[in-house]
Amino acid sequence: MNKWHKALIASACLAASAAQAQTVNIICSVQADWCDLIHTVYTKLSGHNVNIVQKTSGEALAQLNAERENPKTDIWFGGTGDPHLTAAEQGLTQEYKSDALKDLHPWAQKQAADAGYRTVGVYLGPLGFGYNTERLERFNIAPPTSWSDLLKPGLKGEVQVANPASSGTAYTMIATLVQIMGEDKAFEYLKGLHKNVSLYTRSGSAPAKAAARGETTVSISFIHDVTSDAVRNFPVKSVSPSEGTGAEIGSMSLVKGSPNAEAAKKFYDWALTPSAQQIGLAAKQYQLPSNKNSKIDPRMPDTKKIKLINYDYAKYGASIERRRLIARWQKDVNSQPNE
Ligand code: G6P
Repeated sequence: MNKWHKALIASACLAASAAQAQTVNIICSVQADWCDLIHTVYTKLSGHNVNIVQKTSGEALAQLNAERENPKTDIWFGGTGDPHLTAAEQGLTQEYKSDALKDLHPWAQKQAADAGYRTVGVYLGPLGFGYNTERLERFNIAPPTSWSDLLKPGLKGEVQVANPASSGTAYTMIATLVQIMGEDKAFEYLKGLHKNVSLYTRSGSAPAKAAARGETTVSISFIHDVTSDAVRNFPVKSVSPSEGTGAEIGSMSLVKGSPNAEAAKKFYDWALTPSAQQIGLAAKQYQLPSNKNSKIDPRMPDTKKIKLINYDYAKYGASIERRRLIARWQKDVNSQPNE
C-alpha cells in the first residue's frame, strides 16, 4: 500500500463514520486488482456493505439476464461497452443521469446517449497484441506488427485470445475485424488465426497474462492489459496493429430493479469522479479514464499514435448483431479442427 493509498483510506474513514450502513452489490468486470481496491476504498469511504464479485463481460450479461425477474445486483462496473449496450436494449439496466455526466469526455457521453442513459463510459482502451520478448527471440520470430502477421506459420500454437461468448475483449476483436475487413473476409481471417491459436480463454485479460508468464508467445488483448504486466517487469511488449484497431468504451450500468438503488446511485456518481478513477491507476490499470479531470498517466495508450477505427458501438452493441457474430464464430471457427 503506497502513501496515496493510505491517505485516501484515512480520509475515507472520516467520511464513513457519519454514514449509515447500506448495501451495494456490484458485478465488477475489470481486473481483480482494480475490483479489490474499489472494494477496500469504497467500503471505507461510504461505510456501506460493498459486495463485489468479478465476472467477465459475457458472464455479467448472462447473470443480469438470469436475475431479470428478481435482481440481486445493483451495479455492473466495467467490462467492454458492447454488452452494456446489449443489457440496456434488453431492459436489464435503468436510465440514470449522473451530475458528473457533463464532466466526461464526448466518447463516454455518447456511450450513455446511445443507450438512452442506461449505461455510461468509464474508460477507453484500444485493442492490440502483447508478445513475450524472450519467446520470440528463442523462436527467432520478428515481433508482429499487423493483424496479418498473426497468421504466419511460425506462430502455430503460439497465439492466445479469449472466447467471445464469455469475453468482451474477444468480441471487440471480432467486431473490429469485421469493421476493418468486411464480415466474410474477417471470418476467413479468424479461420486462419484459429490454426495458430492454442487456447481460447474465458477472460479477456488471461492471454496477456499467459504471454507475460511465457506460456504463449502472442496475446490478442487490450494494450493496457499488456502494460499492467510490463510494469511488473514481465518480458512483454504491446503492439498496435498497422491495419488499424478498435477500442472498448468500458462502461458502468445501474441494474433495473436494483434492490439498493439509493446506495447504487451514490456509487455510480462516485465512480465517475477523478478520485475514484485514480483507483484504476493505483491498481496498475492503464485505461484512459472518462472524466476530463482525471489524471492521465504516460503509460496509458496515446490514441494519437494508434490507428483507431471509427468503431460503430451502437451497431455492434445491438443484441441481435452480437448474438449473430458470436454464433457465427462458434460455428465457422471454434468448432473447426485447427490442424
Ligand atoms: C480487462 C480489461 C478491461 C476490459 C475487461 C473485459 O479487465 O482491463 O479493460 O473491459 O478485461 O473483460 P472480458 O473478460 O469480458 O474480456
